[in-house]
Amino acid sequence: MSKETLIECKEVTRIYKKGTQEIRPLSGLNLRIQAGEFLALMGPSGSGKTTLLNIIAGIDAPSEGQLIFKGNDISNLNRRKLTQFRSENIGYIFQLYHLVPVLTAYENVELPLLTHSMTAKQRHERVAKALELAHIADRADHYPRQLSGGQEQRVAIARALVTDPPLIVADEPTGDLDKQSAEAILILLKRLCHELNKTVVMVTHDPQAAEMADRTLHLEKGVLNLEDQHVAS
Ligand SMILES: Nc1ncnc2c1ncn2[C@@H]1O[C@H](COP(=O)(O)OP(=O)(O)O)[C@@H](O)[C@H]1O
Ligand SMILES: [Mg+2]
Repeated sequence: MSKETLIECKEVTRIYKKGTQEIRPLSGLNLRIQAGEFLALMGPSGSGKTTLLNIIAGIDAPSEGQLIFKGNDISNLNRRKLTQFRSENIGYIFQLYHLVPVLTAYENVELPLLTHSMTAKQRHERVAKALELAHIADRADHYPRQLSGGQEQRVAIARALVTDPPLIVADEPTGDLDKQSAEAILILLKRLCHELNKTVVMVTHDPQAAEMADRTLHLEKGVLNLEDQHVAS
């Protein structure tokens, strides 16, 4: 595993204001993620897992503190720069897949490439390769409703991979799947990490899913359990 740091959270705090009430899902959180590692994030419901994942993925910004990605501070990028950052660096996988129902598997995977400049031929090659990597090429012409949950998640993984981003984030990617499909998805995520050198950050409730990762961190009320930080790697 490469020892290069991909992401660093420095004293990251997230505050949501609701009227006079303040919710603070993350509070002075410090975390370093290495390039090429498969990291699992666990913690009870409401402990700030999704909030942290969204900040790591540039979907949300910290209220205080910094998010350093490949040495660059992305916490204060404007909206346009942040969108560009995401489209170049992040693939996102959701619990409920979030495929567009009126598009085929192929078209869903093609979607993130439409903002990238390339020829139609290059685009086709990229989509075909991503579908193959996710073992779902045989369903390219199917619509989401014609696919099982496990197959939909494979399409979603192909969509996350198609732009070749260094970081894949997954929010409870197996939360809606039966045991067997879940295991296949986890094996796939692990392969992306170890064979394609992607960094994978996965939120999960499932201890068995977390076991597939190189390292597991536990979030508790917006901070990381310090004991976990000394995992040998
Ligand atoms: N957009 C938001 N506005 C206000 N509160 C939020 C928002 N997003 C999350 N929260 C609150 O922040 C806390 C952490 O939420 P979340 O990160 O989704 O937890 P988890 O993913 O661990 O279940 C919860 O109390 C939640 O209600
Ligand atoms: Mg969540």
